[in-house]
Amino acid sequence: PGEREENETEKGLRVQDKGFLNTAVIRSGITYIDGDAGVLRYRGYPIEQLALKSSHLETAYLLIYGSLPTNEQFKFFESEVMRHSVMHADAEGFFRSFRYDAHPMSMLTSAFAMLGSYYSEANPSLQGQRLYTQGNAASLATMDRQIYRLIGKATTLAAMAYRVRQGRNFVTPPTGLSYTGSFLYQMDHLSEENYTPNPVLEKALDVLFLIHADHELNASCTTVLQTGSSLVDPYSAIAAGCASLYGPLHGGANEAVIRMLISIGSPQNVPAFIEAVKRREKTLSGFGHRVYKTSDPRSFIVRKTADEVFKVTGKDELLETAMALHDAAMKDEYFIKRKLAPNVDFWSGLIYRAMGFPLDFFPVLFAVPRVVGWLAHWRQMMLQEGGVKIWRPRQVYVGAGKRDYVPVEERE
Ligand code: ACO
Repeated sequence: PGEREENETEKGLRVQDKGFLNTAVIRSGITYIDGDAGVLRYRGYPIEQLALKSSHLETAYLLIYGSLPTNEQFKFFESEVMRHSVMHADAEGFFRSFRYDAHPMSMLTSAFAMLGSYYSEANPSLQGQRLYTQGNAASLATMDRQIYRLIGKATTLAAMAYRVRQGRNFVTPPTGLSYTGSFLYQMDHLSEENYTPNPVLEKALDVLFLIHADHELNASCTTVLQTGSSLVDPYSAIAAGCASLYGPLHGGANEAVIRMLISIGSPQNVPAFIEAVKRREKTLSGFGHRVYKTSDPRSFIVRKTADEVFKVTGKDELLETAMALHDAAMKDEYFIKRKLAPNVDFWSGLIYRAMGFPLDFFPVLFAVPRVVGWLAHWRQMMLQEGGVKIWRPRQVYVGAGKRDYVPVEERE
């Protein structure tokens, strides 16, 4: 409303839908959201049940292939993902070429694009043919391999981006650990004998990964599909999604929440901050959502997980400010009227901080699990009935009419 403009074209009515508020671009069977009721389901399963009973990798299988795996299917999927987590030694030079203070999301985004250069089999331009089409077994096997690689290597690339800034050597992914256990090992391993991930933190990270795995057509997933619709290789499409996720209105919000809490400083400064938000001088990061007009169901899971983590790590000093801010916003007319409630990012940053991750690494902890959702949607689009149609929206032109070029010496 207010942003809507229409014009007649030879193909019918064209409606400007700024920010895609009401535009559906695909039929999807992956994730269901009821924003008014605060419901989120992956392939029909409530997020609360999956967070309690499943694991990130099992849920990844569910999101990508449509049903929960049998024991055998899961073992195969897990071993393929973990086997493909190892990176070529050349990648070390790539990571060492970044500035010492490079943002890890810049590194991760570039690394996904770089990864595409390793696998010509995944690139339709290089193969000179359409890949990933329905009913072509070889092509489906090629697709599966890229899926295993991208999920497996996401943790390795992220850990490399983490360690390179600390001037530390890279760690080969271990065998025998879970997906998140392997990730923590690659991040924090100091020597051969002295590191095993804390099981509570490993489980907490797995739950956070699972609830971040997909959220239908958010900005980054849409970017993956938009990019993928030109039939580019999946590594380039995932790199594009990663770039989109980096922004503070999307995956950068967990980082922005902590910066905001640090700037507020203590609970007594909360009322002044709330007033500044209402005057539109500040944003209350971690609040509001395009789809949820009541609480984001993931925020309750994150809040519960935070308590588990704090039992191990001790409470984060910003927790009290966060709670005061939450409580003040939830009873303030400005936020109530606009249906603004905490989203998944409001609490997740506090967990990452308590676990010792650096602030600018938080969006990476969102991007790594979201690779799963991006791939599920990419696969669905590639295999959809009738094939892929390139995503090419139109605009409502409001510029000048035809005018003739005037040489520079004659311009007024
Ligand atoms: N703080 C203060 N006011 C807000 C906030 C906020 N966090 N979010 C929305 N509003 C206000 C807007 O100013 C607008 O007010 P108005 O009608 O008086 O102009 C009204 O609420 C409606 O908001 P929109 O901007 O129209 O909502 P939209 O759907 O376009 O944006 C978004 C959603 C980007 C998430 C927004 O709520 C926001 O910026 N939130 C903060 C950033 C954030 O937490 N992002 C993470 C999203 S979740 C995720 O990516 C995992």
